[in-house]
Amino acid sequence: MSHDLKTFLQDEYAHREERLSGSDLYSVFNPAYLYMVQQRQRQELALLRRHDIDHLKDKRILEVGCGRGGILSSLVSFGARQHLLHGVDLIHDRVVGAQQRFPAMQFTCADGQRLPYAAASFDLVVQYTAFSSILDDHIKAQVAQDMRRVLRPDGLILWYDFWLNPSNPQTRGIRPAEIKRLFPGCRYDFRRVTLAPPLTRKLAARSWMLCLLLEKLRLLNTHYLVIIQKQEPH
Ligand SMILES: C[S@@+](CC[C@H](N)C(=O)[O-])C[C@H]1O[C@@H](n2cnc3c(N)ncnc32)[C@H](O)[C@@H]1O
Repeated sequence: MSHDLKTFLQDEYAHREERLSGSDLYSVFNPAYLYMVQQRQRQELALLRRHDIDHLKDKRILEVGCGRGGILSSLVSFGARQHLLHGVDLIHDRVVGAQQRFPAMQFTCADGQRLPYAAASFDLVVQYTAFSSILDDHIKAQVAQDMRRVLRPDGLILWYDFWLNPSNPQTRGIRPAEIKRLFPGCRYDFRRVTLAPPLTRKLAARSWMLCLLLEKLRLLNTHYLVIIQKQEPH
């Protein structure tokens, strides 16, 4: 199962990289991408603050499906300490690339279904657009279960993923009801964020303000940012 998933993901990301080579779609010099990243970061920090996290300096953090480590590096810019940051990804090349870029963090090539960590060993477990790339419901459930296992009882899961992406049939959006099924018996705080990327790409260079206004309406937002907390049995 894991081998099939690995081959599928490897092919999918190799195609994606080929398609995007030379494009500025994911460059911060592209105003639309800069807008999306900065908005997401403001919303992440606000949501963490709402859940009583106002610094990351002593937090042990794991990203499941970390790719090349870009999200973890953004947490460093928020004050997280590199030696407390761990990333896991199924694709070997991505893990090697991440380790080369960020040698002080710890990256491991592993399946999120079997995280190579002890129970209750992280304060924060994050997933950014990894679940939407897993098409098999059983695998998603296993990954979610293992994320809970490695989370401390008072820890938080930070989730960012889309619920709608009609342009990529190799991914599947995830709505709140499914998130609740993946993490049963937890507490959830949902935010519908990120103005639809195709629209942002048309508008951001012309009017940042218009993007902000439309995003505030939430109707055209394509992602959910979520805090998930385990509930202690009474
Ligand atoms: C869209 S990328 C996101 C990368 C990174 N989180 C980011 O936002 O830049 C999704 C990543 O999840 C990884 N992934 C998917 N299923 C996985 C699994 N079962 N275990 C570990 N990694 C997985 C893929 O290999 C891929 O690198």
